[in-house]
Amino acid sequence: MDFFELINKRQSCRSYDEREVEQEKLDKILEAARLAPSACNGQPYRITVCKGESAKRVAKETQGMGMNKFSSQAPVLLVISEEPYVKSAALGAKVKGNDYRSIDIGILSAYITAAATQLGLSTCILGWLEDEAIRKICDLKYPVRLVITLGYGKDLLRKKNRKDLDQIVTVCE
Ligand SMILES: Cc1cc2nc3c(=O)[nH]c(=O)nc-3n(C[C@H](O)[C@H](O)[C@H](O)COP(=O)(O)O)c2cc1C
Repeated sequence: MDFFELINKRQSCRSYDEREVEQEKLDKILEAARLAPSACNGQPYRITVCKGESAKRVAKETQGMGMNKFSSQAPVLLVISEEPYVKSAALGAKVKGNDYRSIDIGILSAYITAAATQLGLSTCILGWLEDEAIRKICDLKYPVRLVITLGYGKDLLRKKNRKDLDQIVTVCE
């Protein structure tokens, strides 16, 4: 699939069928994640792959106030949590007052969701989550920032709803 076709095809999927995710595809997605760029190449994150009962338990912790009910349908949940910065990125973040770790996690998530799309799988990035509860389920020391649902989607392809370019782009000459 051409990159521009891929980014039109990738969409947040909120319904999944019964099929499991093949290990071979999961491995490819994780390898794509491994290749994502990050500040000072520090990769300050951990991906916890949740399947079976742990996926069901994590899904529940994305459903506060009636949100994200579909997450229980996904056979795999990828929990993205923080890890400490490498020294140079920590220094840069402090001196420049920039949250590189969140930026890195955003890029990581873009790689994961794009790779999944390439492999015929669907995803939804979830930011509505119970950090402490998921940390306990996954035995994580640092904050959980995102959960990504992964599976075979049932959503039909939607037209993208986005701002016009002039609302997000300024050209300075
Ligand atoms: C950081 C982040 C958090 C998000 N959290 C949720 C969420 O908790 N539940 C949900 O259904 N979608 C969530 N989304 C998906 C966005 O709503 C979606 O990406 C956006 O509306 C654009 O639609 P598209 O992904 O289908 O192109 C999140 C996306 C991002 C990037």
